[in-house]
Amino acid sequence: MIRTCIAFLFALMLVPRDAQTQSTTNTLVVHADAGKDTISRFIYGQFAEHLGHGIYGGVWVGENSSIPNTRGIRNDVVAALRKIKVPAIRWPGGCFADEYHWKDGIGPRADRPKMVNSNWGGVTEDNSFGTHEFMDLCDQLGCEPVICGNVGSGTVKEMSEWVQYLTSDGDNPMTELRKKNGREKPWKVRFWGVGNENWGCGGIMSADFYSNEMARYSFALKNYGPEPLCKIASGGLQEDYNWTETIMKKWHGEDGWLQGYLGGYSLHYYTVSDWDKKGSATDFGEKDWFVTLSHTLRMDEIVQKHSAIMDKYDPQKRIGLVVDEWGDWFNVEPGTNPGFLYQQNTLRDAMVAAINLNIFHSHCDRVKMANIAQMVNVLQSMILTKGDQLVLTPTYYVFKMYTVHQDAVMLPVDLRSDSCTDGVNSLPALSASASRDKEGRIHISIANLDPAKAQNIRCELKGDAGSKVSGEIITAAAINAYNDFGKPEDVNIKPFSGASLAKGILTVALPAKSIVTLEVK
Ligand code: AHR
Repeated sequence: MIRTCIAFLFALMLVPRDAQTQSTTNTLVVHADAGKDTISRFIYGQFAEHLGHGIYGGVWVGENSSIPNTRGIRNDVVAALRKIKVPAIRWPGGCFADEYHWKDGIGPRADRPKMVNSNWGGVTEDNSFGTHEFMDLCDQLGCEPVICGNVGSGTVKEMSEWVQYLTSDGDNPMTELRKKNGREKPWKVRFWGVGNENWGCGGIMSADFYSNEMARYSFALKNYGPEPLCKIASGGLQEDYNWTETIMKKWHGEDGWLQGYLGGYSLHYYTVSDWDKKGSATDFGEKDWFVTLSHTLRMDEIVQKHSAIMDKYDPQKRIGLVVDEWGDWFNVEPGTNPGFLYQQNTLRDAMVAAINLNIFHSHCDRVKMANIAQMVNVLQSMILTKGDQLVLTPTYYVFKMYTVHQDAVMLPVDLRSDSCTDGVNSLPALSASASRDKEGRIHISIANLDPAKAQNIRCELKGDAGSKVSGEIITAAAINAYNDFGKPEDVNIKPFSGASLAKGILTVALPAKSIVTLEVK
């Protein structure tokens, strides 16, 4: 007996660590016959702020740039973003939104006033990327704009005129001004953020004060187009449930005045282990991997608790929870401007993206939009640029692999997962979600959070036996692997052959630190 055990241990030592598997206690039941809520494509939204090289250099290079562009917007960035089917972009901030005056960003570029971007590095903002340029970007991407208006230092008049400028075709001064600036027809702009983080950089307001402001602004923003505007109230900080309660109470009201005037309520939650010591984006070990993932998993509880308050006032779920800033936040890359929030992006970021998207899927009855921070060159980006070069990050590839879930019907899952630990933090080894697309195909995304061990999963497809399975995988040799300029993009989507299907049971062997999406037909 002892000999057998020693032989087993010895054999185990010969197997590479990331190929060692747990015994199959992991089970996943996909309720293929019970889908009812749709995973809104807007969960895959992006956030692009006038911050560092998020816009200037990353998106906007100007018409005279040697970098190939269409009317000043980088062609390579547009081509890459089209492949991940960006459904919406939130702009112009962030904190920048509450110091932005939109009229400074229209008309001939040479005449536009300059300003100091006081939130982000104190650099000069020359307003060359303004309303028309942003709308052009959305048109080139085929996505919808989400405009965050200025409540902190703006006025109701200013924001309501912006709505008129963009969406009205009537006889009024703003329509006239738009036409004078070369745009005859109004644009379609449904989504309007009523301020940003108004408890902080958006005006240091109390929940009560903001709820009154939000009411004033919401009433003043008029519907000019065929579709009503979806106004998004600015939310509290992370788990500030009192803020949510105050806004929802105001919206519900005794008299119901505000019902119909609000379509969304915003939540910001960043994955940060310690705001004073955020840590390096690339130079980290297993301990940091566990700490980061345990923070990101908190998104589930935070969404649940905000949703529970919203359910009290809005059981019909007319107001969407809009997670319009999320993602991880590490130290800036050494030698870069601390105000520019430029960070690299590793397999750990890919894991963070997959976990959060799985969480949003599972709450898609309430979470109607999410915008990862941020699209290019800032925080957890899809794309990094350097001059005319471009790198697609591991996060980008998760968004690409997950496009199959956009506007698909969420299939509830029951996951029983082993845990993994570094001796201090313990995490569920797996995170999963599933959906059925319009063609009837089932997609199951599973992430193995364990940095060292493979996991076997027995997955039952309830109500649909399927006949064929195929898959794709994102993984790397090291937890801190990343894609860099001038090198092949090693953290990428590859074919996956570790799943087999027999009589409605999928057997999956998921390598350590990997994210897989299976397709069952
Ligand atoms: O995404 C960077 C900043 O984080 C945003 O401007 C602000 O809203 C948040 O605090």
